[in-house]
This record gives sequence, C-alpha cells and structure tokens, in this order.
Amino acid sequence: MTDQYAVLGNPVAHSKSPLIHAAFAQQTRQDIRYEKIEVPIEGFAESVDKLISQGYKGVNVTVPFKFEAFQLANQHDTSTKLAEASNTLLFNDDGIIAYNTDGVGLVTDIEINLKKTIHNRRVLMLGAGGAAQGVAASIAEKQPALFVVANRTLDKVLALQEKMHASEAVSLSSMTAASFNDLENQVFDIVINATSTGLNNVALPIPNSVFEEGGLAYDMMYGVETPFMAQAKMNGAIVADGLGMLVEQAAAAFHLWRGIKPSDTQAVIKQMRV
Ligand code: ATR
Repeated sequence: MTDQYAVLGNPVAHSKSPLIHAAFAQQTRQDIRYEKIEVPIEGFAESVDKLISQGYKGVNVTVPFKFEAFQLANQHDTSTKLAEASNTLLFNDDGIIAYNTDGVGLVTDIEINLKKTIHNRRVLMLGAGGAAQGVAASIAEKQPALFVVANRTLDKVLALQEKMHASEAVSLSSMTAASFNDLENQVFDIVINATSTGLNNVALPIPNSVFEEGGLAYDMMYGVETPFMAQAKMNGAIVADGLGMLVEQAAAAFHLWRGIKPSDTQAVIKQMRV
C-alpha cells in the first residue's frame, strides 16, 4: 500500500513541498503519496487525528501550526526543544513524534551546498521570531566563534538568549543578544536574515559594515530578491535565498519518515528554481 504524507498549513496553496517530496520519492524509489492540505485555523488537532485514523504516516507542518504541532506530540526530538515548535510529525505505534528539521536544513544548505563553514566563524542572525528560534540551536551547535542574534524588539532576543543559555538540549549554547544599533562597526562572515521583512519588501536598519566581502548573506525567504539581499550584494557578499533550506529541511523529514536519504538534493534545488 502507498504510504501517505501531507503538508498542513494555512495558507498552503503556494507550498512546494509536494513537488520536492515527489522528486525525493523518485530518486529513492519510494512508493509514497504527498499532498498539501489547508487546515482551518481552529482545526489542527482534529485534522491530525483524522489523518492518523486514515493511516497517514506523517506530516510536515507550516505556518501557523508549528507550535501546536509541538504541543500535540507525545514525544519530542531534541531538535524541537528550544523552539518548542515542530515542522515534521511522524506517526507510529508510539503515537506522534515531533521533530524540527528547519535548523538542520539551514545548516546543511550553508555548509554542504554553499560550502561555507560555520564553525569558528562570526555569525549574525537577524530576527528572533518563530523562524529564528527554529534554527538558533542548530547554528549554536556548530560552535561559531561569535553568534550574535539581533532583533528590533530587544526583549524578544534577550528571552531567546536566556532560553539558549538555560537549555539542556543545546549543548553549546553561547549566543549574544543585540539590537540593530549594536551592530555598528561589527563584521560577520555569515549574516542570516530570519526576519519576515522580505515578505513586505522592507529594509532592515543594519549597517553595511556587517557584510564581509566574499562572506555569505543568507535570506531564509525565497522567490524574490529582498532588500536584505540587495544590500548584501552591494557590499560584496555572496547572496543566497532560502530555497536550499526548504529542500534540505524536506530531505531531513523524508529521511526520518522513510529511513533513506534523498541522493541528490542539489538537483531538486535546481529543479525548484525554474
Ligand atoms: P516568523 O515565524 O517569520 O519568524 P514572527 O515570529 O512573527 O514570524 O517573527 C518575525 C520577525 O521579523 C521578528 O524577529 C520581528 O521583529 P520583532 O520581534 O521586533 O517584531 C521581525 N520583523 C518583522 N518586521 C520587521 C521590521 N519592519 N523591522 C525589523 N524587524 C522586523
């Protein structure tokens, strides 16, 4: 019987996940079906119950249900513990197991696809919302020389710092909270935009000095050139969007579900780009 999976979100119509998982299934010769399901805002738990009773083996979860997905699970992989949010649920005889593959997706894209090392480098992440919290632990675990997280609302990034420092799930949790004003005259090898500003075509109040000539500027958004990417390019940084992260987080979910890694994620990134 064909195993069934889905991505749950609201909205979800734009999701590339079905195409990505279809490509992985083809690469690995796995017999799966993967669809997108728009779930009513108040109906997440009910929808998951229904899918489990229909024999689905797992789901990806996107906005705005990642926190609810974490709550609903009865087992939590360490990857979910800091963000308390999950983008991947696995259904089996033990119940619902929550994972968060966003962090590993980002780190894999940076290190394997873009060939930039995080270890011992200076890393700046902009934003402290859901997207930033989902990946902060994975970056910290690579032990950058410096890991600064800057956010417009200082309280939010201070709370993240406190959580990181207290977390048992993050073995190497050194991170420094900052406001955008603190970034004057600082320079970083890798700058990651985890704010939602790209969605609204809004520029961030960050100094040009944060970008290193030949360094990496990574925007977790994809599909458009954001003001962040334009500023980074102007300052000589190598610019990447979040399409690779999207494909790599999907590959990690596929591996968790199927026990087999897609063999060529870079081909899928290329395929999704057109
Ligand atoms: P997401 O899940 O995309 O992270 P979120 O949790 O709402 O969404 O977080 C949005 C992030 O983008 C936050 O870090 C937010 O900063 P605040 O915590 O100060 O709200 C950031 N952000 C959104 N609009 C911004 C803007 N115009 N300037 C700077 N930061 C902005």
